Amino acid sequence: MWFNRAKLVVLTVIVGILSVTKSYRYKTEYEDEDLFSDCPNQPESVLNLHGLANLSEITRVSHHNLVQVSGNFTLVWDIQKTDRIEATLDVFKYERREWVPTLYRIQTPHLCSILFDKNQYWYPMWIQHVTNIEEVKDKCFNVPGTKYIHETFDMHLEFENKMGNIEGQHKLQFVLKAFDQLNRMRPTSICFAMIINYVRLSQKSRK
Ligand SMILES: *[C@@H]1O[C@H](CO)[C@@H](O)[C@H](O)[C@H]1NC(C)=O
Ligand SMILES: *[C@@H]1O[C@H](CO)[C@@H](O)[C@H](O)[C@H]1NC(C)=O
Repeated sequence: MWFNRAKLVVLTVIVGILSVTKSYRYKTEYEDEDLFSDCPNQPESVLNLHGLANLSEITRVSHHNLVQVSGNFTLVWDIQKTDRIEATLDVFKYERREWVPTLYRIQTPHLCSILFDKNQYWYPMWIQHVTNIEEVKDKCFNVPGTKYIHETFDMHLEFENKMGNIEGQHKLQFVLKAFDQLNRMRPTSICFAMIINYVRLSQKSRK
């Protein structure tokens, strides 16, 4: 039962529907100095975040768990504009000194069809701060050389969760795979992780 409910919650996160009466608000604190880290024990064909984009024009200032981001990144992943990108987010929780998988898994077979959708939870935390959305919208992550330009924004964010208590240290692991028009996977894929500490704020009811 709990499993079904967890899946349902994950789905509602994907489509951005809030229909449950009670939820908790969480604040995120970023644990990593480097914000993004590599996935451990991957084959050579699995690239890290730098295999997706050149981040040399991104600036990040962090102090007291607050992260402020500005600047640009430029895509470098060698795939084609017509490729389909499948994205998977897996959440691990740090328990008894190891990363334990949780039931949170969000997978979308067609990332580019929803990347710029205003209802997605990453819209307010990231896409909204991309100043050249019109230029990059149809290129998604597919066209090397595409530059995402950002206004300065705070990565400190609060969000609501209906799952009860998710407090504590978590690792969000992102995997991107590209498929050509014959549905053959491209030789390289992308994997990177982000370590986040969830701190519970007050409980809040909603209509
Ligand atoms: C990243 O971009 C910078 C500036 O555009 C360039 O000098 C640098 O060589 C690039 N790095 C890689 C690894 O391509
Ligand atoms: C980001 O790109 C814009 C447009 O190419 C450029 O004017 C700006 O200097 C870049 N920002 C950084 C931090 O490199």
